[in-house]
Amino acid sequence: METIRQVDEMQLRALALRDTGKRIAFVPTMGYLHEGHLSLVRAARQYADVVVLSIFVNPTQFGVGEDFESYPRNLERDSAMAADAGVDIIFAPETADMYPRNYATTVRVDGITETLCGESRPGHFDGVTTVVSKLFGIVQPHAALFGMKDFQQLAVVRRMTLDLNIPVEIVGMPIVREADGLAMSSRNKYLSSEMRQQALALSDSIHNAIQAAQQGETDVATIMDMVKSRIKGGQDARIDYVEICHDSTLKPITRIDEHSVLLVAVFFGSTRLIDNHYLLAPMD
Ligand code: PAJ
Repeated sequence: METIRQVDEMQLRALALRDTGKRIAFVPTMGYLHEGHLSLVRAARQYADVVVLSIFVNPTQFGVGEDFESYPRNLERDSAMAADAGVDIIFAPETADMYPRNYATTVRVDGITETLCGESRPGHFDGVTTVVSKLFGIVQPHAALFGMKDFQQLAVVRRMTLDLNIPVEIVGMPIVREADGLAMSSRNKYLSSEMRQQALALSDSIHNAIQAAQQGETDVATIMDMVKSRIKGGQDARIDYVEICHDSTLKPITRIDEHSVLLVAVFFGSTRLIDNHYLLAPMD
């Protein structure tokens, strides 16, 4: 495995690989890798000859007062995990190389960025679409893999790729969970043990909602009430949103069908956790 730090060098390498007929699969991350990221790397192998993993804590997708400064960073630890999982190239650029002084372009998707996480984190998705389109330009992938953990992010990236005619296959992969159900996240390390326990309410309540939906409950309000009261049982939990939406428009719906996705975002202290699942599919 090799590590490339320079934007120009990564782009030249990617273009050279393509010239020799190699297929490139790409897994963009912000590092502090866990099994969720590694599941994307392992799946990436099936799409290409060369697997590129990027590690870049992208400042433009963090809001004022969010955890950009404290976001966990450990390239040495990440490199060992990436090598083990079969990454060929780690691309870990510096901020000044990604966003030089005269940098002036933002990529923005309208509509589906304005609800859910977009409502509570204004500008967040502009940062995501901007950095992902830059990374696509640098890494030149044939396929790029994203986790369904960030369900809205995946929908936004799909929209951007279609709208801008970017020739990349976007692949969505299931959420990887801890043994007790908590969705893996680099931010879980911020949780105290009490909060970690309370955070199980996210996956538990989603699990209960799926059961109710599969037993024939079709009323969105009833299911949302169930989820909210389970989450509110945790004394440190502060609900950001609990919504049931259509999977591609992300608009709220009133009756459950096979497109219905339950999405939750909950603060525990200053740590914000998200989780989601289709209501009419068995839980991963
Ligand atoms: P990050 O939070 O590091 O996540 C990188 C990728 O891993 C995303 O596609 C995310 O959905 C996926 N992922 C995270 N936790 C997962 C889990 N438990 N199961 C499955 N997949 C999981 O998402 C970002 O970084 C950034 O916004 C990025 C796309 C890199 C742009 O900066």
